Amino acid sequence: MLDALDRIEFITPLVMTRAPYDAIAEHFHALRTTLQPKEEDYLALLLDPLPAGSTILDLGCGTGRPIAEHIVARGHHVVGVDGSVALLALARAQLPEQRWFHALIEEVEFAETFAAVVCWDSLFHLPRAEHAPIIRKIHRWLVPGGRLMISSGGNVAGEEGFTDTMFGHSFYYDSLPPQQMTAVLEETGFTILRSEMCSLPDGDHDKGKWATVAEKRR
Ligand SMILES: C[S@@+](CC[C@H](N)C(=O)[O-])C[C@H]1O[C@@H](n2cnc3c(N)ncnc32)[C@H](O)[C@@H]1O
Repeated sequence: MLDALDRIEFITPLVMTRAPYDAIAEHFHALRTTLQPKEEDYLALLLDPLPAGSTILDLGCGTGRPIAEHIVARGHHVVGVDGSVALLALARAQLPEQRWFHALIEEVEFAETFAAVVCWDSLFHLPRAEHAPIIRKIHRWLVPGGRLMISSGGNVAGEEGFTDTMFGHSFYYDSLPPQQMTAVLEETGFTILRSEMCSLPDGDHDKGKWATVAEKRR
């Protein structure tokens, strides 16, 4: 159980075989620099209701750039969770006042609650059977009325999970189809505020991305 611990907490010697970001950390850091226009919109919907000084949980936070940086620039605190030591080290170097946890999304537990949760471009590295339990954890950690910004996608028709290559390394992906993702969120106790394809499949590496901002029902 994680609580208000400081800085990076190296929980276990994790090796993320499904998503080996440690091996591509420099490339990923160079690639992921700025928010996409739609990400700015989703973050506004997530953060606009919050008073300054709120604490936001970022599951699969990566280097903290650009999402945690944006959240901190808006006057909030970030608790970041990631399975990549190399990406977390970059996050800590950039934002040393925030709290960073080395843990797997599917295993991490918190004793505290959060004003909002981001789970952006990370859930899709886990098998779809694990998505609903993670969404139920997020719901438990959110305060009533707290909002979630989450992405999923893509999937390959007829297949549960597929691998693709990024900078010469193999990464696993899986997602629930959008209608099922929406159903899981609603059944868990969320009201959908906005959900849409934020990128369309390009017939190549991009299998399409489904974005949702949802609010925990009061
Ligand atoms: C595509 S990156 C997205 C990073 C960040 N959310 C962003 O939008 O820039 C995916 C992130 O999820 C992390 N990740 C993937 N699977 C994970 C798992 N099972 N537990 C914790 N982190 C995981 C990776 O280490 C990586 O930082």
